[in-house]
Amino acid sequence: MGTGHGYGKVILFGEHFVVYGLPAIVSALGSRTVATVERTGGPGFELADHRLESPGYKKEKFAEQSASLENIFSAMGVDPRQTPFRIMLGGDLVAASGVGASAASCVAIARALNDEFRLGLSEEEINAIGYEGEKGYHGTPSGIDNTAAVYGGVLRFRRDLQGGPPFFEPVRIRQTFEIVEGDTGVTASTQQVVGDVRRIREEQPEFFAGILLSYEKLVAAATRAIESSGMEELGRLMNENLDLLRKIGVSSRELETLIEIAGANGALGAKITGTGRGGLMVALTPGKKSQEKVALAIEKAGFRAFRASIGPGPESQGGR
Ligand code: PMV
Repeated sequence: MGTGHGYGKVILFGEHFVVYGLPAIVSALGSRTVATVERTGGPGFELADHRLESPGYKKEKFAEQSASLENIFSAMGVDPRQTPFRIMLGGDLVAASGVGASAASCVAIARALNDEFRLGLSEEEINAIGYEGEKGYHGTPSGIDNTAAVYGGVLRFRRDLQGGPPFFEPVRIRQTFEIVEGDTGVTASTQQVVGDVRRIREEQPEFFAGILLSYEKLVAAATRAIESSGMEELGRLMNENLDLLRKIGVSSRELETLIEIAGANGALGAKITGTGRGGLMVALTPGKKSQEKVALAIEKAGFRAFRASIGPGPESQGGR
């Protein structure tokens, strides 16, 4: 039997802009997907997906998941028609839009197959296979989710636009801080939203270039703010990042409601995290008291809230 895991993640800065080669800041969460691989008598392969889920998520993603599994098998040179096996998925990461659930499962499966078939793959190779798996979910992923799923910790990530391996480095974080994520409960299609943003870039190149320029300055300041634990500044920069995301049309009524609740209950900043148009909102709430106040207000309004701490080390605490 082979096993492997992949971390969930939260994008703190730079979703969408990362697609165009700009740096993003991502943190892995304590929650993860765990995969187990067992050989069977066949025929072919079976999937037992026991992950917790946001209602309807697994059904909605089933076709993409099948394409993703084919990509993973072919990238790893394993053929279930010749060597039948069963994959089981579990762990404490809830499968939902915006949590990096697809990447966490791709990486967990790649690790479990690597373990079972004694392939001896390096972390970099596992990451490359995770990326191939992610392509099954959305055509041209930036690779940020699978990189966070493999390495954990807080990373500054940049995609290589020439198609080479990504550039990433740990963000030197000294002091742990709390966040809250609010779940709109809406599953958005990353492929569609990324496509809509691409259209804005094609149709209004100057407008889009201006947004990217503002973002580039912002993310440099955000890296400094995280490294120096400048929480007020970090919150302000999250709000600025949110404004840029609004301008490219990826907010939604539910996301704005969650952002408003976070602000009204003392969050230092809040923004969309991940694809947008649904999925999740992240709020900066340093200190357990502030975190609890915002999380309870979100729950009182009828949404799900996730409490997490971002800190040094590969695993932040909590999440989903
Ligand atoms: O919705 P998520 O958590 O899978 O994040 C998507 C992030 C995007 O920047 C919109 C796309 C990408 O491939 O990076």
